[in-house]
Amino acid sequence: MEYWKSVVSNLHAPRVPVVPYVPEHRQLPPRVLTYPTAWQGIESILEDIIQRFKIGRRNCLEFGVEYGYSTVALSCFFETVIGVDTFSGDKHTDNKSDIFDQTSARLRCYENIRLVRSDYRDWIARDDNFYDLIHVDIVHTYMDTFACGLWSAKHAKCVLFHDTMSFPAVKRAVTDIARQTGMQFYNFEESYGLGILVPDSHTTHFGQ
Ligand SMILES: C[S@@+](CC[C@H](N)C(=O)[O-])C[C@H]1O[C@@H](n2cnc3c(N)ncnc32)[C@H](O)[C@@H]1O
Repeated sequence: MEYWKSVVSNLHAPRVPVVPYVPEHRQLPPRVLTYPTAWQGIESILEDIIQRFKIGRRNCLEFGVEYGYSTVALSCFFETVIGVDTFSGDKHTDNKSDIFDQTSARLRCYENIRLVRSDYRDWIARDDNFYDLIHVDIVHTYMDTFACGLWSAKHAKCVLFHDTMSFPAVKRAVTDIARQTGMQFYNFEESYGLGILVPDSHTTHFGQ
């Protein structure tokens, strides 16, 4: 419903440019989990994204951990990673059971990862920190991606959104956040799509 409202209300709004993201380098980070996941491929372009947009390496926040593939990949690049998830799945995930203990046990050896069992709505109501990077990969509805993503855009230099190619609602939400914040929307089309929002000044700075 919110998706269609956005489609209709933005019919005459200026188009938000979506710039294809073409990595210059790909390299598998030193720590990766080895089960098949839709995120596979993105771990190899994280260093490229960090370098291209001159992102700091201090702190990273992730909404949507599940079994931990993206969390472990991100932990190779930041001093600390906080992973927030209800750990009970959602209408788009195969898993619908409580996997907090299982995921905590799997990630226990990564000392710079802290897992928090929380709904993103409760987390954003009480967190005022600013992060080098936030990754949004929760339930892929327009409303949740928009709400979580807009907060993230105000609390990080760079925000990543998974599934921009497989879920039109996610791409639409990222487009609307870019329109509202004036951030630049890059889109990596592989691995089901990764939206990248960065401040617009980078467009000229990086000659894109
Ligand atoms: C697609 S999975 C994340 C996959 C993970 N990023 C990866 O690639 O390894 C989505 C996760 O979002 C979580 N989730 C869905 N809605 C949420 C909400 N409102 N707050 C917090 N987590 C949520 C689900 O429990 C699920 O584990």
